[in-house]
Amino acid sequence: MNPKICIVGSANIDQIAYVEKTPADGETVFGNSYQMGFGGKGANQAVMAGILGAEVYMVCCLGSDVYKDMTIENFKKNNVKTDYIQTVKGSSGVAPIWVDSSGQNRIIVIPGANDLINTEQTLNSLEAIGKIDVLVGQFEIPMNVTELVFEYAFNKGVQTILNPAPANKPTKKLLQSTSWFIPNEIEFEEIFGAPFNEENLFNFSGEIDSKIIVTLGEKGCAFINNGKVEILGTKHVTAIDTTGAGDAFVGAFSYALGLNLSIVESLQLALEKATDSVTRKGTQSSYKN
Ligand code: RIB
Repeated sequence: MNPKICIVGSANIDQIAYVEKTPADGETVFGNSYQMGFGGKGANQAVMAGILGAEVYMVCCLGSDVYKDMTIENFKKNNVKTDYIQTVKGSSGVAPIWVDSSGQNRIIVIPGANDLINTEQTLNSLEAIGKIDVLVGQFEIPMNVTELVFEYAFNKGVQTILNPAPANKPTKKLLQSTSWFIPNEIEFEEIFGAPFNEENLFNFSGEIDSKIIVTLGEKGCAFINNGKVEILGTKHVTAIDTTGAGDAFVGAFSYALGLNLSIVESLQLALEKATDSVTRKGTQSSYKN
């Protein structure tokens, strides 16, 4: 049976400029190329899980612009169900992105409709979707919405995954209904107030009930296994564009978790998909099964 996954989160249109070196203050530089594509941390995670074969339900909010229909069409193409997408008057979310020659990115998110997702409608959608295996959330929609849907699902025994991106401190209430907490190193430091290292991960993991996985980019990921910190490495590749790699990780991990794979197997799949995605340009356009 395919795992049934619900993502409550953002959808954006990514506007990516590829440049040798990103401009300094007051500087103008020429870029090498430009591409527009589908993004948003929630949407990316949904598409990754959809490509892998999960039954994915996307709950997000789009604007009344041309991006709305394009985004819905794109979800359908990628095996993501769109029945619970909300729309409001105004602009959909957009994200101007700079990617330099090492594949590193800098992202600005302009949330638009993402900020206007309706709490009651979202809870009704979860009710209508029915029994799910995994619920996934991030921080590109208002946190109180994520808090309420996590509480609702967690109390029903659903595994919940919180990806605290862009970096923000989750409320105590939200963490209490989080089964898996997946920050990257930057988010780890922002949330726990100390840089990522094995000792800090071990100490902080004792402070919360959720299981923590820290994504480490080309170094793989760190997690706690049998009471000890373990680092799982990943294949070395030449990075072309790292945009959305963390989302590929979370989307693939949610799929694996829904399949009841072991933690190590789930992380291996997540790392494989994230690592593969950095070898191609674009966000969702870099995801492959
Ligand atoms: O994680 C990458 C994503 O961050 C991009 O798709 C962009 O839209 C922002 O949400």
